[in-house]
Amino acid sequence: MYELIPVAEAPELDAEAEERFVEEWPEFIFHDEGVKPYRERRVEYFPEWEFYLVTEDRRLIAGCWGVPLAWDGTVADLPGGFTDSLARSVTSYEEGVVPNTFVLMAAAVRSDEQGRGHAGRVITAVRDRAVAGGLGQVIAPVRPTLKSRYPLTPIETFMTWTRSDGLPLDPWLRTHVRLGATLLAPAPASQTMTGTVADWEKWTNMPFPSTGSYVIPDGLTVLHIDHDSNTGTYTEPNIWLRHA
Ligand SMILES: CC(C)(COP(=O)(O)OP(=O)(O)OC[C@H]1O[C@@H](n2cnc3c(N)ncnc32)[C@H](O)[C@@H]1OP(=O)(O)O)[C@@H](O)C(=O)NCCC(=O)NCCS
Repeated sequence: MYELIPVAEAPELDAEAEERFVEEWPEFIFHDEGVKPYRERRVEYFPEWEFYLVTEDRRLIAGCWGVPLAWDGTVADLPGGFTDSLARSVTSYEEGVVPNTFVLMAAAVRSDEQGRGHAGRVITAVRDRAVAGGLGQVIAPVRPTLKSRYPLTPIETFMTWTRSDGLPLDPWLRTHVRLGATLLAPAPASQTMTGTVADWEKWTNMPFPSTGSYVIPDGLTVLHIDHDSNTGTYTEPNIWLRHA
């Protein structure tokens, strides 16, 4: 049996979670300047929306977190993506706006437990928590894991790709859809990561000798390097899903 518990209930797992889940992401993901102004306030305002999935004997399996915000249910009113959701949740909280929607921002399963359906357990449990907590709408700006194999394909095209059984080609989208989610809209600029050329060489462990566009490991789209301004810019595309 597995249980979804708020992280505050298991501080003894924090160090392990930090270590295990950070390695699941490409380094560049942690360099979105738009996230920095909100990171600490998010942790302070919404501690109840960050969870661990654990076994009965409290072995750490997965983690996830999200934010509450107000959304009118239309595509037009969706946040721009990950970073905009974070900004909107924090700003709305400070303005006293009553939230009606839970945005599942990230989920990760420890690498030696992937492929066993844990992601589905996490999504189902967090969705139930959201509804019980008065957040009747559940959405997610999803990072489709297979997209990194197709960095040149527009996200609008990638999100239409299905298998012969009609389910999405992407395994992570497929997991959500099997649990009742529908694809709402592309989020072509969900996050933006910028750095110097040297930063990007460090984050990707690749040299970028010329100005131009580059395919990078785990990149969902290409990185643009400009030696004149000594900058690299990567704009991460995600896909908005809504859970039933
Ligand atoms: C994406 C992730 C959360 C899925 O968790 P999971 O518990 O392994 O998911 P499931 O067991 O339900 O498997 C979901 C699908 O992914 C596939 N899958 C799982 N692990 C995989 C892996 N390491 N490589 C390739 N495919 C994998 C499964 O086969 C399944 O596809 P299916 O529909 O053909 O059965 C997990 O792989 C992960 O933590 N990845 C790193 C972080 C991340 O990318 N998070 C998502 C963005 S928020």
